[in-house]
Amino acid sequence: MKKPHHDFADRTAHLEPEGAYEVLAKAQQLEAAGREIIHLEIGQPDFQTYPNIGMAGIRAIAAGETRYTPSAGIPALKKAIADNTGRRIGMEISPAQVVVGPGAKPLLFFPMMALLEPGDEVIYPDPGFPSYRAIIETMGATPVPIALKEEKDFSFDMAEFSEKVNDCTRLIIINAPSNPTGGIIPAADLEAIAAAAKKHDCWVLSDDIYTRLVYTDEPVKSILTFPGMAERTIIMDGFSKTYAMTGWRLGYGVMPEKLADVVGLLHTHSVGCTASFTQLAGIEALSGDQEQVARVRAVFLARRELIVKGLNDIPGITCRKPAGAFYVFPNVTSFGLSSKEMANYLLEKAGVALLPGTSFGPMGEGYLRLTFTNSTVAIEKALELIKEALSKL
Ligand SMILES: Cc1ncc(COP(=O)(O)O)c(C=O)c1O
Repeated sequence: MKKPHHDFADRTAHLEPEGAYEVLAKAQQLEAAGREIIHLEIGQPDFQTYPNIGMAGIRAIAAGETRYTPSAGIPALKKAIADNTGRRIGMEISPAQVVVGPGAKPLLFFPMMALLEPGDEVIYPDPGFPSYRAIIETMGATPVPIALKEEKDFSFDMAEFSEKVNDCTRLIIINAPSNPTGGIIPAADLEAIAAAAKKHDCWVLSDDIYTRLVYTDEPVKSILTFPGMAERTIIMDGFSKTYAMTGWRLGYGVMPEKLADVVGLLHTHSVGCTASFTQLAGIEALSGDQEQVARVRAVFLARRELIVKGLNDIPGITCRKPAGAFYVFPNVTSFGLSSKEMANYLLEKAGVALLPGTSFGPMGEGYLRLTFTNSTVAIEKALELIKEALSKL
């Protein structure tokens, strides 16, 4: 039956704002009232886009590169992405497998739109990036969260995984290094996930947005390279984090050609294409100087040491060292408050904006997420303020 005009479609009923934007809004209210707030809530690099990339975008606009492009991306960018991804993961990728989108998020949304039907089950990490569940539900599919366990360095609980994966599973979403925990997936677990995907004939979507920001000596292994996985794997990746390009909106997916064709059509009939000059800046990002990526990684590495040590020095907090990304996920259960109460308390009393672990799913209860996308000085100050505020609890 037709709904009254002011009722919205059921598929939107579950949608909620992202926790980071809510906390940012509260923090900004306090700032407007004159409070000084240290921001450790937003997950974006605190560096400017590297100058060679910015200039490539400006040059493209000045040269009149401001028209529609093919929906799935400019061929030269698709080739650069295929070559770059292939080189990093150690297998040949064809440009026809690449779809470029306005940010990485569309490469979560459109492949899921292309694959999921009501009743399909989708496995995803909890705590995990909030858009996974939101998109699964938007498609009418059934979300099946799997806990990331602290004692497993925030990798999947594989016992729970084996119990929950079944013939109704259509898609398994993995994310390593993870937002919000910084954890990675051990090779043995990846192998088990690949084996289960083949056994139950499902797809794997690997959110690789942080794979170039790892602090281990070994690069993160891609599930795409496991035997039999090329036909069932989607890599979602992008430029936002590696090249400090969050506002440019540039991401991509690598997937089997037939799926890439459908995802390209979904781009045609929704966003049309990604901004032309943004794509041209993306070519420069991949083909230009990569030294700055290494330099920024070294900066994040030093901050990781500082924040992990500082948090562990605070009585009542324990914090694991994240293997990658720019997040820490300390355990604060000893204070006896909920994550949300802790985050509110620290914003109001210490003036430090951070997120409750539950912004990333119910399994985040007992944890907080702090980003180290702020200066050493700001992080040191935040640690002092947190310590002082918690000593009064
Ligand atoms: C795990 C994860 N996946 C995807 C994205 C989306 O990236 P983009 O800004 O390129 O859409 C983010 C951004 O925060 C993220 O943390």
